[in-house]
Amino acid sequence: MSIRRSIVRGVGGYLPARVMTNQELASKVDTSDEWIVQRTGIHERRIAAAGETTSDLGLAAARAALADAGMSADAVDLIVLATSTPDQTFPASAVTIQAKLGITRGAAFDLQAVCSGFVFGLATADRFLVAGDFKCALVIGAETFSRILDWNDRSTCVLFGDGAGAIVLEAAEQPGQRTDRGVLTTHLRSDGRYRSKLYVDGGPSSTGTIGHLRMEGREVFRHAVGMITDVVEDAFKATGYGAKDIDWFVPHQANKRIIDGSAHKLGIAPEKVVSTVDRHGNTSAASIPLALADACADRRIKPGHLVLLEAMGGGFTWASALIRW
Ligand code: UT7
Repeated sequence: MSIRRSIVRGVGGYLPARVMTNQELASKVDTSDEWIVQRTGIHERRIAAAGETTSDLGLAAARAALADAGMSADAVDLIVLATSTPDQTFPASAVTIQAKLGITRGAAFDLQAVCSGFVFGLATADRFLVAGDFKCALVIGAETFSRILDWNDRSTCVLFGDGAGAIVLEAAEQPGQRTDRGVLTTHLRSDGRYRSKLYVDGGPSSTGTIGHLRMEGREVFRHAVGMITDVVEDAFKATGYGAKDIDWFVPHQANKRIIDGSAHKLGIAPEKVVSTVDRHGNTSAASIPLALADACADRRIKPGHLVLLEAMGGGFTWASALIRW
């Protein structure tokens, strides 16, 4: 029996031109290239130019994804933008992207689940496509975390970067077999008891300011691998696939030690792991689609491959998705 699924038609990424190296950071705060590389695997990150906003980054990634899909913006009737650093409190930065793409039909909205935002956005768009509400979706992760960092706090400012990634999803009938392409399963979790472990100390309804990112890094680290492997096991249980079936593991890019620890605990071979954290740092909701764009551009990920996504971040939120490319 045929089944409607959300098929990936294209992927694109965008990084601001400005590179900030660990050496440059070491000239501003009490840190070193050696400490940052050893503890995180990060060598450099990108920083948005003055006046370059989250929607600018997201728009560039969306255009790249549409070009990769060989589709025009007219085909898109849903935009889900995952971001914690919108241009303004409202309207949603997604409608800015919608307008700049010249789209006047369908719906566009922002979704906020911090570093898990892209997988939450993917799951949301997938449900709308499978239900038949919309036909073609852009799921974008875009962030300008440089704007919410405390540049005097060495425990956080060395970790994050700016960027955007996007995928085009299109609803299509599949045979309803094990070889079906598309989003096969998604699993979303959150537990607000941990909300003070990673947060921004401002907001429109509390301080009336934007605020700065605050994190108990060790506490986040302590929970990360367990939460990630747990929600990936959910994806395996739901589909009957296991670690040996995975062609590519594309995790959220926060810390090389978390990525390696999760892959090891899940039994996924190191050569199947897509890692960009060395060049991008942690770009929050943008990190997974940026890593996907990287691995599609150099043709590591090909049609038919089984691709596993996972993320964990502020909230805490955590999530997984399994996609047949
Ligand atoms: O996107 C999802 C959310 N974020 C994450 O997943 C991040 C999770 N956490 C981490 O990645 C790690 O906990 C960090 C990279 C943030 C920190 O690594 P760690 O191995 O957990 O280090 P730590 O926090 O235990 O700090 C060790 C030492 C401390 O000094 P003392 O107290 O041992 O004397 C820190 O003050 O390193 C010090 N330190 C630094 N030293 C040089 C903290 N930041 C820096 C720095 N440069 N930038």
